[in-house]
Amino acid sequence: MSQHKPGGKSNATGAARAEARANIAFVKYWGRADDARNLPLNDSISLTLDRLVTTTTIEFAPALDADEFLLNGGAATPAETARASRHLDHLRALAGTKTRARIVSENAFTTAGGLASSASGFAALTVAAAGALGLDLDARELSRIARLGSGSASRSLFGGFVRWRAGNDRESVAEPIVPMGHWDLRDVIVVVEAGRKKTGSADGHSLARTSPFLTGRLDSLPGTLSAVERGIRERDLAIMGPAIEAEALSMHAVMMTSNPSLLYWTPDTVRMLLAVRDFREERIPTWMTLDAGPNPHLICEAGTVPRLLSRLKEMGFGGEHVLVCGPGEGPKVDRLQP
Ligand code: DP6
Repeated sequence: MSQHKPGGKSNATGAARAEARANIAFVKYWGRADDARNLPLNDSISLTLDRLVTTTTIEFAPALDADEFLLNGGAATPAETARASRHLDHLRALAGTKTRARIVSENAFTTAGGLASSASGFAALTVAAAGALGLDLDARELSRIARLGSGSASRSLFGGFVRWRAGNDRESVAEPIVPMGHWDLRDVIVVVEAGRKKTGSADGHSLARTSPFLTGRLDSLPGTLSAVERGIRERDLAIMGPAIEAEALSMHAVMMTSNPSLLYWTPDTVRMLLAVRDFREERIPTWMTLDAGPNPHLICEAGTVPRLLSRLKEMGFGGEHVLVCGPGEGPKVDRLQP
């Protein structure tokens, strides 16, 4: 890995466009050992998703006095711009420049659906900015930097099934578990609640320690991590499925028992939790996971999708409320002429 020396490029120009995909965690990141550097309390495992793409174009321009951030066609909020700006500071420090940038970022999925993800956003921003600044960083280092913007973004630096390790600042990076194409799994996302703002994960992580159940959760995680990783390696949903559903419930138990309590579920979330139990009895092998929001992610093999979709339709969920995702690739970047 080569890096530009600080001070080497005080007036950087350069532009790049990158795309990166969000991921769904099968073993969750919830709670931090270090808030400033987004060091997690535990390892997590995810699948990068093909359809949840963020495309980000960035141009470093010496004429700019401040970073500018256009998100989904409109000006980003001051808080969003400040967060992106702080993130760019890590990359500017590596390139030895203070040059400000214009960022244009688009999500190829409906933000109103509550699927907007800081994981794809910060992965794309990291890769685009490193490309524009001509930084020659390997995927491990890019994963580390993406983590500083948003923990789950560290996993979006890779395609397919990924494990992000807990540890110190150098150690806590993600890596793929198996090669791309290993297992054609599906994440059928049911948008039961469109548009409602979730309680930000940033605040949620700090509340994890207020739950008396956090210790129990952390104690059970080594067993969960090995079951999920074994299920993935052996392409065995009968091993992985029960482990990921119990794991999502364990994270939500910590959320609900935090002080103040975080309750992300809606009646439809519970309806779907009950429905997947019926589906399994009907030999539609599907297990459910949930992020910090109400929308169920139904995990199954590709061949199960048609039967699952028809059952969901019977329950009133179809059309734009259902998004079928498969394994997605890691980020791509192109340098542009500034
Ligand atoms: C519940 O801190 O990565 O999705 O607040 O969107 O930056 P942002 O998310 P992050 O927390 C993600 C929490 C989670 C579980 C997970 O993805 O591991």
